Amino acid sequence: MIKGQVISGRFGEIIVRQKSDSELELGELLVADSNNGKILLQVFDLIYGSQISQQNLELISGMKLEEGNNLEFMEPHLRNYKLALLKNLITINANNAISSKNLPNFFSEVREVTKEDLGFLTKPTSPLLIGNLRSGTKDMNFPVYLPGDKVFSHHILITGTTGKGKSVLMSNLIWDTVDKEYCALLVLDPHDEYYGRNKIGLKDHPTKKVVYYSTQNVPTGERTLKINLKEVKPEHLSFMEFSPPQNQAMNAYHRKFKKEWIESVILEKPLNVEFNEATLAVMKRRLMFLLDLDFDDNQLFCNGIFDIKAGETTIPDICSELEKGGTVIIDTSNFSGQAELLIGSLVASEILRRYKRHKIQGTLKDKPVVSVVLEEAPRVLGKEVLEKGSNVFSTIAREGRKFKVGLVAITQLPSLIPRVILANMNTKIILGTEMNSERQAIIESAAQDLSADGRAIASLDKGEAIVSSNFARFALPVHIPFFDEEVKKLVKEKGFKQSFEGVKLG
Ligand SMILES: Nc1ncnc2c1ncn2[C@@H]1O[C@H](COP(=O)(O)OP(=O)(O)OP(=O)(O)O)[C@@H](O)[C@H]1O
Ligand SMILES: [Mg+2]
Repeated sequence: MIKGQVISGRFGEIIVRQKSDSELELGELLVADSNNGKILLQVFDLIYGSQISQQNLELISGMKLEEGNNLEFMEPHLRNYKLALLKNLITINANNAISSKNLPNFFSEVREVTKEDLGFLTKPTSPLLIGNLRSGTKDMNFPVYLPGDKVFSHHILITGTTGKGKSVLMSNLIWDTVDKEYCALLVLDPHDEYYGRNKIGLKDHPTKKVVYYSTQNVPTGERTLKINLKEVKPEHLSFMEFSPPQNQAMNAYHRKFKKEWIESVILEKPLNVEFNEATLAVMKRRLMFLLDLDFDDNQLFCNGIFDIKAGETTIPDICSELEKGGTVIIDTSNFSGQAELLIGSLVASEILRRYKRHKIQGTLKDKPVVSVVLEEAPRVLGKEVLEKGSNVFSTIAREGRKFKVGLVAITQLPSLIPRVILANMNTKIILGTEMNSERQAIIESAAQDLSADGRAIASLDKGEAIVSSNFARFALPVHIPFFDEEVKKLVKEKGFKQSFEGVKLG
């Protein structure tokens, strides 16, 4: 269907007159034919045009508004119209996509994009399904895949204002990877929303391969989270703000008492070096609070997930599951954010250690890429935190890709993350973002030039996204399927009935 005609402009700002009986939208995809093949274009702005001078238009509207004169335009569809500003996305030549370097022919018609035009968007090996291609608000029912192994090891940023669908998108991504061998996900879930205790969730995946750790009312067949205190080392606490003397004291305890260092801190066992009493007292208090420990009558009590006796194999178990390509969800909703990050830190450090060894031994190529999913990522990747020192998550962001370990950082506030780290997140899935400062942070660090897309990003609705990736030829507009609906549909179609026992599907 013809939607308009190229009338003027320049590269990156092609002006098209809209055909009066069609309607162009922000973000809409259009195709123009040129000597070099088809050019895929996208609308980034819309304005009015008229053959009648501004002064006359103002006069005519005044007569209508003030005096009730209902003057009619002669041939209104010819005289008044809408103009769209378009940018080149890519040139398509017989199913090959090449970077666009030329303008469509002058006066050429632009038409709606069709599935036939999109043959160049092929399914890569290790496909990761992101959603369907979207033209403006229209779902084109054409699945968009990215090369999952590369995308996960080079980090993903999922960003958008609250309620725009970050968690729904993440559920889709997890669902897609559960039965894939090329990747493993460790999901730290502070809202306990991914497993789906009382609603549809990852537990309903037909493969039943998701491993779930929780602390309270653990569903049958799933695991109780307990971690042995011996697993914790001072380095795992680097995401917390300890003063240099406190850090030195922790290291001194660790050197002297090895795996019993935390117990020794709490029981105030003497060190060979003298530390200020206040330093030791603050360190002890913070460790007790973080690890939920109590001390009474020269005895240590463990109230939370960290334990003196239990949980010795938890971290190795989780890591082995990940090395097999599994999906591990840890419900961290019941404890403090810092305890959640400590667990993440413990697992991430261990997996990074194992993968570094695999690299040296030459066995890394047989291992799945492991990705750590972090909600509210600025807690560990924020400028303020990182100014005080690096942590395992920032180490992964900087060098994890060499060892096939990646991050999926979810946040509403990407501007809090330093630019070097943002630039290292090679795939950004951008959901609706109204705040200009946040948009700017994403646009400045995106893989494609999104400088003209500020308005489009601000106006993205729930479930609409733009994917900018080093592994995509252009910034892909996508529609994210609604997880709950899709899973319900699957049940109906494929009869995964038994996996929904006890879940109300209406
Ligand atoms: N792709 C989608 N299609 C239809 N509705 C959606 C979609 N994504 C999200 N929604 C709706 O928006 C609601 C909020 O989505 P979600 O919880 O994913 O937002 P969020 O970005 O994670 O928010 P927060 O920042 O608060 O965590 C969902 O419960 C759902 O009703
Ligand atoms: Mg969310």
